[in-house]
Amino acid sequence: MKTSMQFHRDTYCGTLRAEHEGNEVVVAGWVQSYRDHGGCVFIDLRDRTGIVQLRFDPSVAEGAHSVADRLRHEDVVIVKGAVVSRGDNTNDRLPTGAIEISALELQVLSKAKTPPFLIEDDIDTAELVRLKYRYLDLRRGPLQEALLARAKITGVVRRTLEEEGFLDLETPILLKSTPEGARDFLVPSRIHPGEFYALPQSPQILKQIFMISGFDRYYQIARCFRDEDLRADRQPEFTQVDVEMSFVEPDDVMDIIESVLTNVFKEVANKDITTPFPRMTYADAVGTYGLDRPDLRFGMPLTDVTDWAANCDFKVFASAVERGGIVKALRAEGGGVSTSRTEIDRIVKDHCAWGARGIAWIRKNEDGSLQSPIVKFFSETEIAELQEAVGLQNGDLVFFVADQTSVVHNTLGNLRNTLGRRLNLIDDDEFNFVWVTEFPMFEWDEDEQRHNAMHHPFTAPLSEDASLLGETPAKVRALAYDVVLNGTEIGGGSIRIHDSELQARVFELLGISKEEAEARFGFFMEALRYGTPPHGGIALGLDRLVMLLTGKPSIRDVIAFPKTQRGTCLMTESPGPVGSEQLEELHIDVVPDDN
Ligand code: AMO
Ligand code: AMP
Repeated sequence: MKTSMQFHRDTYCGTLRAEHEGNEVVVAGWVQSYRDHGGCVFIDLRDRTGIVQLRFDPSVAEGAHSVADRLRHEDVVIVKGAVVSRGDNTNDRLPTGAIEISALELQVLSKAKTPPFLIEDDIDTAELVRLKYRYLDLRRGPLQEALLARAKITGVVRRTLEEEGFLDLETPILLKSTPEGARDFLVPSRIHPGEFYALPQSPQILKQIFMISGFDRYYQIARCFRDEDLRADRQPEFTQVDVEMSFVEPDDVMDIIESVLTNVFKEVANKDITTPFPRMTYADAVGTYGLDRPDLRFGMPLTDVTDWAANCDFKVFASAVERGGIVKALRAEGGGVSTSRTEIDRIVKDHCAWGARGIAWIRKNEDGSLQSPIVKFFSETEIAELQEAVGLQNGDLVFFVADQTSVVHNTLGNLRNTLGRRLNLIDDDEFNFVWVTEFPMFEWDEDEQRHNAMHHPFTAPLSEDASLLGETPAKVRALAYDVVLNGTEIGGGSIRIHDSELQARVFELLGISKEEAEARFGFFMEALRYGTPPHGGIALGLDRLVMLLTGKPSIRDVIAFPKTQRGTCLMTESPGPVGSEQLEELHIDVVPDDN
């Protein structure tokens, strides 16, 4: 059986070099550009390996030349020709620049409409246009490189885990809700009116069941679905490198992940990363850097000035402490010199979005004078004490937040990241890993007036803290760990509860009634009762890992077909309405939105 192609491609465009001179080759691809120079037509032909120049000389092949003369951007052609030297006309910007193909025969396989943007590395076309024509955007160098890196990364991940004895096991997409803290995407059942499957937020419960079934070392490159607010590093569907192991301590899980990451960075980016990664408790990470995903490529720790503030004359500070809050300072060394008053005001305004009612600041000018909206509230002694406490030097800028602990940390932690970038303290070539450990088991939900699981409800407590579960659950630390790279959480996991009674207790503490626990997790509680090995695991966010390794600003740049911030696919225009017949079959009535 044959297609209508007259030749058979035998060479990728980007692979040709001077050493191939004299070879007859067949290349195929897309027309990147076309030029007519003194009778000869020059075509840059592109495939996923690169670009090669084709020369159509009427004195060599008249027929091919006359067809080439009509080629336009993105036409698809297949060409037979001889590799010849470009002599003195070498193009140093192209890896194939020493040669060109003197074309003998040409077949046009497909004509292209004029594309809405040029297929070039640097274009300023709006992202929304690029997403609509994603198939064209994916032809561009940066996206080709990102997806190539992604494919290489999954290859290295699979190889490393398989060498360590992990089995690649699949889990269903149509199933029951898994609680990972987001809303579920639901799929209505046609056969069971009014009943729904939930798409997995992660394969969490099923991978634990694999351990109960004895599979011991599981992995899966798993698609997860979470209906949550989207950001640059969040998509409604994303991919995890999901891992679970039996009879392990946290160190065993961490060792495996360090091997995976070491191999990935070496083989894909030729970067040597140092293991073991440093470890930091949650309390230290948040206390010192404000966030549980500290960017440790630069210093700038927070200073606690609560004790000083408790008795100071500035009401805002003193009363925050009186209400049980704290006051912390963030000193940017030399930041006063390079940050204007207008810029300070903008930084303050932007960062109040993290919840602070205000952000106070003091700039110490190079002559030692102080500029600040708050120094007027303090006595001379108080100001001297404060400067001493935060180590304020000439030229520095220091920010303060007085509020509830979480607001202070969140605001100053994010402000620290902003200042790190602004003051050029970050080396973009550095890959800085840290394990954050001993997360609290629960976090208090003000709105719902109950505890939520900080990781997920299957996470085990530190054995020395288990006795606190009854009295002070807020103090219980979990056997949970996150791996953080350059200030982004790229993975999280834990040792699990493998005892059904403890699991029932934890559900109860989370405000899940016996009946609800039975309805949602009854099958799992029952499974735990049939001989469950101690087990634990982790999931790496593959999209985030690829984003950081390739230096892209958003995970949309490393996902072939991503969704917009509003959760839509502009190429296929989904989500979209469906016909009334389909709705009827699914027993669904759509109530129009009045708003
Ligand atoms: P967790 O919820 O921490 O853990 O998810 C693991 C990692 O997945 C990535 N991630 C995301 N990436 C892109 N878009 C999202 N919306 C998104 N949400 C999470 C993050 C995160 O670190 N079942 C547990 C793992 C376990 O305990 O083994 C889980 O899903 O990089
Ligand atoms: P005010 O007296 O309200 O004008 O506040 C004086 C300064 O204190 C302003 O710069 C405010 O931004 C700042 N401020 C107000 N509330 C807080 C707070 N909770 N923490 C830190 N600074 C604050």
